[in-house]
Amino acid sequence: MLSWGAAGGRALRWANGRAGTRGLRASPRARVAMPSWVIDRYGSNEVLRFTREMMFPIIHFPNEVIIKVHAASLNPIDLSMRSGYGATALNMKRDPLKLKAGETEFPLTLGRDVSGVVMECGLGVSYFKPGDEVWAAIPPWKQGTLSEFVVASGNEVSFKPKSLSHTEAAALPYVGLTAWSALNQVGGLNQSNCSGKRILILGASGGVGTFAVQLMKAWDAHVTAVCSHDASTLVKKLGADDVIDYKSGNLEDQLKTLPLFDFILDNVGGSTEKWALDLLKKWSGATYVTLVTPFLINMDKLGVADGMLQTGVTVGSKTLKHLLKGVHYRWAFFMPSGPSLDEIAELVDSGKIGVPTQARIGRTTACLYECNLFNQLLMKYSHFLKYQRPF
Ligand SMILES: NC(=O)c1ccc[n+]([C@@H]2O[C@H](COP(=O)([O-])OP(=O)(O)OC[C@H]3O[C@@H](n4cnc5c(N)ncnc54)[C@H](OP(=O)(O)O)[C@@H]3O)[C@@H](O)[C@H]2O)c1
Repeated sequence: MLSWGAAGGRALRWANGRAGTRGLRASPRARVAMPSWVIDRYGSNEVLRFTREMMFPIIHFPNEVIIKVHAASLNPIDLSMRSGYGATALNMKRDPLKLKAGETEFPLTLGRDVSGVVMECGLGVSYFKPGDEVWAAIPPWKQGTLSEFVVASGNEVSFKPKSLSHTEAAALPYVGLTAWSALNQVGGLNQSNCSGKRILILGASGGVGTFAVQLMKAWDAHVTAVCSHDASTLVKKLGADDVIDYKSGNLEDQLKTLPLFDFILDNVGGSTEKWALDLLKKWSGATYVTLVTPFLINMDKLGVADGMLQTGVTVGSKTLKHLLKGVHYRWAFFMPSGPSLDEIAELVDSGKIGVPTQARIGRTTACLYECNLFNQLLMKYSHFLKYQRPF
């Protein structure tokens, strides 16, 4: 351990001195523990527990910062992780050498997105200082953001866009970085090669989809967005050129009537994969990228070694099969990245990307602590009215 959080260090000093006397304590108790939503086992919403006794985060590496959470939000992965999704792979990442025998991942805090203020920096952090307003998406193998404080690597953190409140900002990092990974890092799209390209976005009304539509329009692509009729007004407002309702007839047939595409982002998965690649231009570098992959499920079902083998065989054979047909097939994953968030923050502050807040459930953590709102939010999540925000 290279540095205690300021609070932890203070608590230690008080504990060694005469600080046991109530009147003299500078709230050390509040500093060794913090409020947090945790789970102690996997299951349905009943496993969620609110505690004021979660261990205060500690800086373990010189590049880490502790952030005071001003706002957090929920993503589908929070619901999945609550049920145990990805536990095998995430536990391997948490403790690759199995050094912590007997210890488990519990109590586990969910929540990936944070917007807040830097409270403490590790010795190697020079880019940020206490008091900076930042945002980040914390990778799922780390303790999450539904807490008063969270620790993150400095390279996962970025300065919050000035034009957004903390609540608005907390809606974007996870979905933004996921879309960025799929479109830019895996898909190879960027500001200089997108102009006029025909992009198809399946699942355009969700968190990732709404971000992707805006990013592609900011980069001057032609966007065809697929969503339900209820979401079509929102998606049009985000800039989509064509909007197709997947509930009004056979989607494949509707899309076949359109010119072929240069790029497909698939946020839906399932049977879509069987026909979507036929909508791409052949032998022109056209690419299909899906975010719905069996990577974590394979490891949950088969264990680490067999799961990875199965994953490698699946992705390898599909890539080759489609390559022989003249199109590229790729899987993409959320990638935590402060530098990518810097670029996203610029797009936000220049007005090119906004926050359709109905697609996320941003709430100040203070609010979460004070009532049972988080539990209610999780239960209601799938029924949330997502499409009401005027843009
Ligand atoms: N690989 C990774 O690292 C990674 C990271 C993040 C997310 N993901 C995955 O990416 C997907 C999108 O995430 P998200 O956060 O955007 O989820 P989300 O907010 O729940 O959005 C999903 C959207 O898909 C739409 N949809 C459902 N069925 C559809 C269909 N047949 N055709 C077209 N649209 C359909 C729904 O919109 P309507 O209401 O319009 O039906 C919904 O808004 C999820 O499957 C998630 O698990 C993967």
